[in-house]
Amino acid sequence: MTDSNKYSETLEELLNDLNQTNNNHDLVIVDSNLEFYNFEKLLNTDVLYIDISESTKNLVSVERVWNALFEHNLNRLSNLLIIGGGVLLDVCAFAASTYKRGISFCLVPTTLLAMVDAAHGGKNGFNNDYGKNQIGTFTEPKSIFVCHELLDSLSEKDYKDGLIELIKHGLIGSSEIYEQLSLGSEYKVSLDTIKKGIKIKLDIVSEDFTELNKRKLLNFGHTIGHLIEKDSEFKVSHGEAVAIGIYYELLLSKKHMGLPQEVINSYLKYLEKIDYSYTYKFSKGKDSIMEALKNDKKSLIDNVDIVLLSGISMPNIINLSFDELFEVIDY
Ligand SMILES: NC(=O)c1ccc[n+]([C@@H]2O[C@H](COP(=O)([O-])OP(=O)(O)OC[C@H]3O[C@@H](n4cnc5c(N)ncnc54)[C@H](O)[C@@H]3O)[C@@H](O)[C@H]2O)c1
Repeated sequence: MTDSNKYSETLEELLNDLNQTNNNHDLVIVDSNLEFYNFEKLLNTDVLYIDISESTKNLVSVERVWNALFEHNLNRLSNLLIIGGGVLLDVCAFAASTYKRGISFCLVPTTLLAMVDAAHGGKNGFNNDYGKNQIGTFTEPKSIFVCHELLDSLSEKDYKDGLIELIKHGLIGSSEIYEQLSLGSEYKVSLDTIKKGIKIKLDIVSEDFTELNKRKLLNFGHTIGHLIEKDSEFKVSHGEAVAIGIYYELLLSKKHMGLPQEVINSYLKYLEKIDYSYTYKFSKGKDSIMEALKNDKKSLIDNVDIVLLSGISMPNIINLSFDELFEVIDY
């Protein structure tokens, strides 16, 4: 898949790119935590701020966005600009892709996680009582603008959450990225590394846009990660949950695919370096985990398709019974 994203190091370059792309934005929606950037002044347009987080990534928030689109009289030819982290992008992209059967939208991801992952590949969605991202569409944005300077205001915690998705990209598709992150002393990443991470996702997505097969590889660490997020009622962040999910899925990889212990050791060292935990004690018991597992989009009656590695950059989709999964889960 050719990379048609626009990349910029500075905010100034981003604004130039946004102004040059002939995307007359009929409405700009911005994450309310980014008010201090003063995008209305920078873009010389009205901006709608939306306050949203993982615990409110739900239908109520989608409805708020739909209502805003109606209130601003957006029509089938309108174009929406969405500026924010993965949660805001997922909800607003879903709202845009369903409003009047779909209007076009552009994305400016503002977290590392959204830059390397959530903004790309055309998936959007929101959570409901049955789990994470259970409702959504596959709809490609018109353009994606990745600006490195936006990361300067990101908290250390949110930065590290993004690093987890990047290290996941490395584990499934690039020993270069994996080694760069795991062996490097500096935890911040360059625009070039971000581009390389995005390329791994785009290469996979280009072969399987609607996730019938190969795209499932991107879910490495997420089968168990999502269970943790749900069990903790989203108190454990997506990044922290996936970090632990990756560890458990590496253990399963060792057992079922013969993954060398050295990979697990180096991953644990990396988690230690960024001060992230590798274990989680489920609080709601086996039945609740079972229920959540059944709602995993990759589950059948009592088994699930899960991504396991036989080495770095050697992912496989394996079917495991729920019981086999429970061997590594602490409940
Ligand atoms: N659609 C996909 O393909 C896909 C892929 C991966 C993850 N996701 C989704 O992404 C979500 C997680 O995204 P996230 O980690 O970006 O979380 P997030 O959107 O909640 O952002 C994290 C925090 O950072 C703040 N923030 C955003 N940009 C900032 C900036 N530049 N400076 C300061 N603060 C900033 C936000 O307001 C929020 O408080 C999850 O819901 C996950 O399901 C989607």
